[in-house]
Amino acid sequence: MELKLLIIGFGRVGRGFAELLIAKRKTLQQQFGLNCSVVAIVTRRSGAIVDERGLDLSKALKAARNGRSLAEAGPAVKNVSTIDLLSNLDYDVLAELSATDIETGEPATSFIKQALNRGRHVITTNKGPVALHLNELQKLAGLKGAVLRYEGTVMSGTPLLNLIRNNLAALSIRKIRGIVNGSCNYILTRMEEGLSYDQAVEEAGRSGYLEADPTADVEGWDAAAKLMILSQAAFGVRLKTEEVERRGITNLTRKDAQQAKSKGKVWKLIATLEKTENGVEAKVGPEMIDLSHPLAAVRGVTNAVTISTDYLQDVTIAGPGAGNCETGYAVLNDLLACAHF
Ligand code: HSE
Repeated sequence: MELKLLIIGFGRVGRGFAELLIAKRKTLQQQFGLNCSVVAIVTRRSGAIVDERGLDLSKALKAARNGRSLAEAGPAVKNVSTIDLLSNLDYDVLAELSATDIETGEPATSFIKQALNRGRHVITTNKGPVALHLNELQKLAGLKGAVLRYEGTVMSGTPLLNLIRNNLAALSIRKIRGIVNGSCNYILTRMEEGLSYDQAVEEAGRSGYLEADPTADVEGWDAAAKLMILSQAAFGVRLKTEEVERRGITNLTRKDAQQAKSKGKVWKLIATLEKTENGVEAKVGPEMIDLSHPLAAVRGVTNAVTISTDYLQDVTIAGPGAGNCETGYAVLNDLLACAHF
């Protein structure tokens, strides 16, 4: 099978995905009979390149890593809007990997709709469109016979959404609780180890874990958006942003982190989603938990989530919560779903 991809966004995730596409090219061919080519890369800052015969991804990666124009890697298109490219190019899958706007979900939501309206499959790691509009986008995909996947929006490439969709199918989920923001967990871990809040935030930024707007992480918006996605994926219930009770980690200091440690406790940013008689309740906030608690052992950028079900009790999944290739892997795995593997 041949799949032509149009990629929007060539930041950390886009590049992580491109790296994996190159590294796994043979595996995809040999194990799945899948040949992928990238026909367009569209970016906000360094323009768009298009080659319907397939772009040279290694060249694109090299140009992007060296901060040079993508035009070095393929024919640049000028004065054509992204919507026009989505409407006119010949592609099978849109990989929408641009930075998140949690407030409006735009312009990514319009890009995704445009591709779905043409019956093209869509993969996205962009939390805004999924948190705000998953049910609507899924309906549109169904109507057009397209696949919509968004594994990388929660827990990076750790397959939480696939677990809920496939392996916990037909179970009734009561509660989902855990650590869903990698950078906050990293920052809290480093503060416990002696760094100041500012030093820890700076380090998380350097490691590439923070959102383009870091307040999204430290004020809990990112974790809230993830709960909004999980609420739709697990309960089919769309929550409004203001329905998520949200507190971030900005008031915590190195002293707090170390005092907790001396009491045999640790601060974690905990996200909880629970089905109650009054509907779905969602909250994000720092909690001081005992060192003996399983979530206390989740350190650095690792995420962990426990899903409470009716017949399988509690199922816990842990793994990377952020990272370029880690999130790139979510896109690769979603690509296999689009190819119906
Ligand atoms: N900024 C996000 C986090 C990236 O730290 O979890 C992955 O969604």
